[in-house]
Amino acid sequence: MNFKDYTNQYSNLVTFTPNKNTPIHRWYPLVEGYSTDFVKNIIEEQENKPEFCFDPFGGIGTTALTCYEMGIKCVSIESSPFFYDVSNIKINFSNLSSDILEKLMNKIAISLSKSKSLVEHPKLQSKTFFENSKREKWVFHQSASNGIFDIVKSIDKICKGDNKEYKKVFKISLATILQEVSNVFKNGKCLSYKKNWQEKKYEREKVHQLFLNHSKNVILEDLKNIDLKYGGFYKENDILFGDSRKKIKEISDGIDIVITSPPYLNSRDYTDIYRLELWMLGYVSTYKSEKVIRKSALTSHVQIQLPKVDFPKIEELEKTIAYLESDEAELWNLNIPNMVRGYFNDMQNLLLDLKSKLNPNAKLYINVSNSAYSNHIIEVDVIIAKAAELIGYRCEEIRIARPIKTSSQQSKKMNIDNMRESVIVLTKL
Ligand SMILES: C[S@@+](CC[C@H](N)C(=O)[O-])C[C@H]1O[C@@H](n2cnc3c(N)ncnc32)[C@H](O)[C@@H]1O
Repeated sequence: MNFKDYTNQYSNLVTFTPNKNTPIHRWYPLVEGYSTDFVKNIIEEQENKPEFCFDPFGGIGTTALTCYEMGIKCVSIESSPFFYDVSNIKINFSNLSSDILEKLMNKIAISLSKSKSLVEHPKLQSKTFFENSKREKWVFHQSASNGIFDIVKSIDKICKGDNKEYKKVFKISLATILQEVSNVFKNGKCLSYKKNWQEKKYEREKVHQLFLNHSKNVILEDLKNIDLKYGGFYKENDILFGDSRKKIKEISDGIDIVITSPPYLNSRDYTDIYRLELWMLGYVSTYKSEKVIRKSALTSHVQIQLPKVDFPKIEELEKTIAYLESDEAELWNLNIPNMVRGYFNDMQNLLLDLKSKLNPNAKLYINVSNSAYSNHIIEVDVIIAKAAELIGYRCEEIRIARPIKTSSQQSKKMNIDNMRESVIVLTKL
């Protein structure tokens, strides 16, 4: 494999950090996202400006919005209904009026200032969210959950009729403060309780204030200041909701470039990590509805029972799976070998379905990360590159974006150099 060191250019760009100060991109920060400059860099290095870009793992729409800004048609697919809404609102920002948003925000502020009595909470099958003296732990103290549902109630009451779209804008704003006012934090894999959570309480008015601050200082500010010279470009920019393993069949031909980042093979279940957003904002209220979202995600976590599927015939992968399925591998979850099989099977099938949609010589840029299980490093970049080469792609290079850390108990016997985040560059043959 042709490895190239891109750490100087990419180490920051493959993270969401630069987007935290970038208008519109900053409306909702996504730890797992990359930056608009990462996408821009790739587009700018092309000999000919691409006309049609595709992102099968759209997230909060970084690729889509960057393409929009650069006047390039882009279609994305996203399986989480929350991320789907965030990305849709962002790519359609030019349809939003700062005057209307400001008026609605002022009405919401008045409505919030009148909130006094206990506000109705939704009936959720999961009982872990709300304060309850019969339980040991809960995610939101009552003052915080009252604050949250005051906001939900006010948004629903005020954003009606022609202004219905603004409901989603305000819900993004609410999403950005949920973790802060809760008793938990995203620890990379799931949610953990904050230290001394019992003592730290957000008052109802403080929750209102944080929400109004984000709406005013970030969203309204961006809408007032954004240069709309490119507004209205590429109306056909589209985000499809669903599982890209199925939805890919609906994508039209003629794709010039793919810029994407699938979930990493790190057993992170987005449905778990984004529980606050999914359950508090009304996307999920039962375990059944949660499972539907979980099942639509690429095989990359062990939260559901996984079938033992075939996998691409590549020596490294065969060895990895043989090792993981052996007695020697002390795995923290017995589903891990099937997850590894499923991950590479999904990725190869996706690349296969994608092939007929691509223009000759189309380029693919896939941001991935290697992972480690039971002291064994899985070189995800190399395996995907080889799996792609088996089905009619050429791997031009693997760009090393940044080294990554692993837990200390994993690192003892491992070659840390192989723990990297990288960008696989493929050409369709
Ligand atoms: C690493 S994130 C992509 C972030 C994106 N590059 C951004 O900057 O916003 C991977 C995304 O893939 C989505 N996803 C996972 N499985 C999917 C599937 N089968 N179809 C479509 N999207 C999927 C996840 O919900 C997540 O938003």
